Amino acid sequence: MKITTVGCGYLGAVYAASMASIGHEVLGLDVDQKKVDDLNAGIPPFHEPGFEKVLTEALASGRLRFSTDYSDAEDYRAHVICVGTPQQVDAAGADLTYVHAAVDSLIPHLDDTDVVLGRSTVPVGTAASLRDRLRAAGVNAALAWNPEFLREGFAVKDTLHPDRIVYGLPDDAEEAARARAALDEMYAPMLEVETPVVVGNYATAELVKVSANSFLATKISFINAVAEVCEATGADVSVIAEAIGLDDRIGPKFLRAGIGFGGGCLPKDIRAFMARAGELGVTEALGFLREVDHVNNRRRDHVVNIARRALGGTFTDKRVAVLGATFKPDSDDTRQSPALYIASKISGRGANVVITDPVANERVHAERPNLETAEDAYAAAAGADLVLLLTEWKEFRELDPVRLREVVGTAHLIDGRNALDPETWRAAGWTYESMGRP
Ligand code: UDX
Repeated sequence: MKITTVGCGYLGAVYAASMASIGHEVLGLDVDQKKVDDLNAGIPPFHEPGFEKVLTEALASGRLRFSTDYSDAEDYRAHVICVGTPQQVDAAGADLTYVHAAVDSLIPHLDDTDVVLGRSTVPVGTAASLRDRLRAAGVNAALAWNPEFLREGFAVKDTLHPDRIVYGLPDDAEEAARARAALDEMYAPMLEVETPVVVGNYATAELVKVSANSFLATKISFINAVAEVCEATGADVSVIAEAIGLDDRIGPKFLRAGIGFGGGCLPKDIRAFMARAGELGVTEALGFLREVDHVNNRRRDHVVNIARRALGGTFTDKRVAVLGATFKPDSDDTRQSPALYIASKISGRGANVVITDPVANERVHAERPNLETAEDAYAAAAGADLVLLLTEWKEFRELDPVRLREVVGTAHLIDGRNALDPETWRAAGWTYESMGRP
């Protein structure tokens, strides 16, 4: 099938290469010439395990190319909206500028037999308004909503082997049949292996995505709230998570207490969901998400507070090593990163912060020039009065406590991700603190 993806960021580029890898002919469209040039040269614009291989193989197959020229979309049949929907600068709601621009750029090149598919995460009601936008421009292309659920670090796997596919179809039966036929053809290899397909209307499909992310965020904040109680009582949150996770109605995933969630999705999605509920007159229905957001923000400030206490009450002239800058391991994404928030806060209060991240040092250097970057954990920790582990990269989980102790000024470590074994670190002479564990 001939498919365009509109927007070649994280979602669109991975989707384009993955769809080409299963036999479709794909054109990735983006307004950013450098990104398009890089992608055509097989250079991933972001760190994502497995993506470079899929990209270079798809380019070599001749079934994938990238362009900034939307008129190239003319001969293609399905057009997949993959642009970002960031939080508005001065409000909680989602900024739909890029979605509207994507549809407007496509409109002159659409035939009535084409299908437009939305994959971006949008406030409920957006698909219906985009369909009106198409019709107002005299375009009868079918529109369906087909949310994505990919996790950074697993983007290729989640795209090629999704645990479910959601079709949000229009009310009009003929249009719904056209959209469904296109979706079935695009996802034929996934349907062959019996990936569940869940079908609903536009609003349902839009809400599936924000409900899933809100649930995940709630799960994380729930266990972090329990961690707060553990810190007041001497209980161990990781044992509690293990015990409740064995109940298969609860399940063990997303119960890792720590410094909370960040990234380009969960924080902005819960805020956009609350903002949309307000517009719809059902603010109270999602009141609990405000608390989810509060708990999440409190965890970051909690680490700043225990770091200050560990340093004897002041950050001034103290040297603090921060291990990790990204919002999670196996990603170079620092958007809404708890690690970077904490590092910046501590630096702002007078500490000399030396941060190290396996993939994001350059980005940190460009975005936060006040933070010194170091090659690796041992270099960052040299002479440090305190070490903070804030992103649980494999190389940090495997650190040698004896070797690290030799380079620091004071062997005091705060493990913001409960990633290390307390016994091992204490046995090696460290004062070891973690989140919600005695
Ligand atoms: C998320 C959703 O998982 C994905 O389905 C959706 O499509 C996009 O948003 P992602 O942002 O890549 O994916 O990250 P995710 O793996 O969900 O982690 C989000 C944040 O939560 C990270 O900062 C992570 O460190 C944190 N987290 C996760 C916890 O603090 N505890 C946990 O138990 C799990």
